[in-house]
Amino acid sequence: MSNYHIKHLEEYYQVYRKSVREPESFWEEIAEEHFLWRKKWDAVLDWDFSKPEISWFKGAKLNITENCIDRHLTTRGNKTAILFEPNHPDEVAEHISYNELYKRVNKFANVLKEQGIKKGDRVCIYVPMIPELAISVLACARIGAIHSVVFAGFSAAALATRINDSDCKMVITSDGSYRGSKTIDLKGIVDEALESCSCVETVLVAKRIKTEIYMKAGRDQWLAPLLAKASDVCAPEIMDAEDPLFILYTSGSTGMPKGMVHTTAGYMVYTAYTFKNAFQYKENDVYWCTADIGWITGHSYIVYGPLANGATTVMFEGVPSYPDYGRFWDIVQKHKVNQFYTAPTAIRALAKQGTDVIDHYDLSSLKVLGSVGEPINEEAWHWYNENIGKKKSPIIDSWWQTETGGIMISPIPYVTPTKPTYATLPFIGIQPALMDENGNELKGNQVEGRLCIKFPWPSIARTIWGNHQRYKETYFSAFDNKYFTGDGALRDEVGYYRITGRVDDVIIVSGHNLGTAPIEDAINEHPAVAESAIVGFPHDIKGSALYGYITLKDTGETRNHDNLRTEINQLITDRIGPIAKLDKMQFTHGLPKTRSGKIMRRILRKIACNETDSLGDTSTLLNQEVVQDIIDNVL
Ligand code: WT7
Repeated sequence: MSNYHIKHLEEYYQVYRKSVREPESFWEEIAEEHFLWRKKWDAVLDWDFSKPEISWFKGAKLNITENCIDRHLTTRGNKTAILFEPNHPDEVAEHISYNELYKRVNKFANVLKEQGIKKGDRVCIYVPMIPELAISVLACARIGAIHSVVFAGFSAAALATRINDSDCKMVITSDGSYRGSKTIDLKGIVDEALESCSCVETVLVAKRIKTEIYMKAGRDQWLAPLLAKASDVCAPEIMDAEDPLFILYTSGSTGMPKGMVHTTAGYMVYTAYTFKNAFQYKENDVYWCTADIGWITGHSYIVYGPLANGATTVMFEGVPSYPDYGRFWDIVQKHKVNQFYTAPTAIRALAKQGTDVIDHYDLSSLKVLGSVGEPINEEAWHWYNENIGKKKSPIIDSWWQTETGGIMISPIPYVTPTKPTYATLPFIGIQPALMDENGNELKGNQVEGRLCIKFPWPSIARTIWGNHQRYKETYFSAFDNKYFTGDGALRDEVGYYRITGRVDDVIIVSGHNLGTAPIEDAINEHPAVAESAIVGFPHDIKGSALYGYITLKDTGETRNHDNLRTEINQLITDRIGPIAKLDKMQFTHGLPKTRSGKIMRRILRKIACNETDSLGDTSTLLNQEVVQDIIDNVL
């Protein structure tokens, strides 16, 4: 029996029990046998959720890129590590072997060093889905610089906030990007962001599109000539197990985005282990995750997890609808993809196109289908199973978060019997708990509550950059001695988990985690707006979409509501990005409030979801009369 690779259900239960009873010796064995260490640890685990402080493999020394690249060179040097599929199908795909990846990462690492980047410095990476994105991530890790990847769909203001929060010294970007039929002026967005970032000294620019761009003297440099001069050998910086590897921002229900900090050894061990098992990756498989590396899914399951296993990982630059809705299936056929990992929102958008387009492609290479980012509804699950998996490929509905670093609850394909809409069983080493509102753990099966995790796992985020107090309050204060996920879940009669959705003010739109507060802040900046409240409502493609209730200032003037809607969505696009635009905007005479002045989003949510029969008690409201008025004018 190998604890590293679970192959049948009985083995799962056996290994799971071991991982819970003796977590330290379990993870120690995995770490010992499957990774390259410069020095072994002094202690496997130290933890105290009340502080909270968590460390795994303390005292160990390693470099994650040696594990993801160097150690594969003797056995897999010519194997494709990254298979880059460009935006347009006429442009040829690029097969980057482990040998070539080694050279390109080392060259890039040397460029970073020459530009004054040292261990511990923060580097912001704002690059589209081109090879330079993965390579710059690995180059940072090679020299111990902390990468902070910002999804290249975020606006200048959102980028600036993230650069400033972690005090980045450098930004890596590209002249522009291709996304379907659009060309985006990425460098222009960086220039705008940097007007308010005094910490950035250098901008490195990869060339992707062919238009002229502005280069600021003394700050901006083209990457290609620097790489051409750089040596392709760069000794890896030897890191402590708990040195930060990266910062990745995620939205909170209130306030600034949270810069989640992941550290080196535990993150490596857990993402590698979960990748191997959740996808049942075999040596010659081609694995494709459609996420962007700008999200945690891309960090853990395009870059680090697959490469730590010596896998071939596909990186796709484009979108599912370009040049037509057959694009995903075209890529599956062309590269004989074996494991395909995507989001429910993409599945629903593709399902809407019917099955004719699928029939043109040979999808017989597929062995495992994955879903991540939000609950997958039953209809989408069946569509995916029947039309893409032809009922032969198990669907792994994998639940996890930016904060968890890796997959937490998920079937293991060909091991765990699946059940539509259920993420099924906890991964090896994961100890979930469902809690009631009074803070008691709900024992046994057939219970529903708030989802917590009782015991640390190796890839849990260690802090929020610059704000440990907020880390403690957000995740470790709701329930004593437990990590609180912010999600609700139920456990069925056999112990399978189904995630029911967020229990806070985070709304998941097309798999993107959006906090209501920053969007409301953006809307409230409009001079005509007095106040606003955002809630989610069901949407057949996006899962949830945003509904805004907006009260205008009483100026005596009449306003053109259509113009206002356009202006408000533009403000949101500028402040956050187009993903946060509202689908519906209702202008109201007021918002329902408690006597202490808190907006009752619960009521607004019910109205937006057409559930006005179950509004509950509204008598404690300060201004009960606005509720009927809002219902009468609902969109
Ligand atoms: C939130 C985390 C994990 C990578 C992508 C999202 C929701 C995620 C599932 C799933 C139901 C899911 C949760 C979670 N979520 N996967 N399989 N079933 N809900 O990372 O942006 O940090 O969002 O996404 O609500 O808390 P993220």
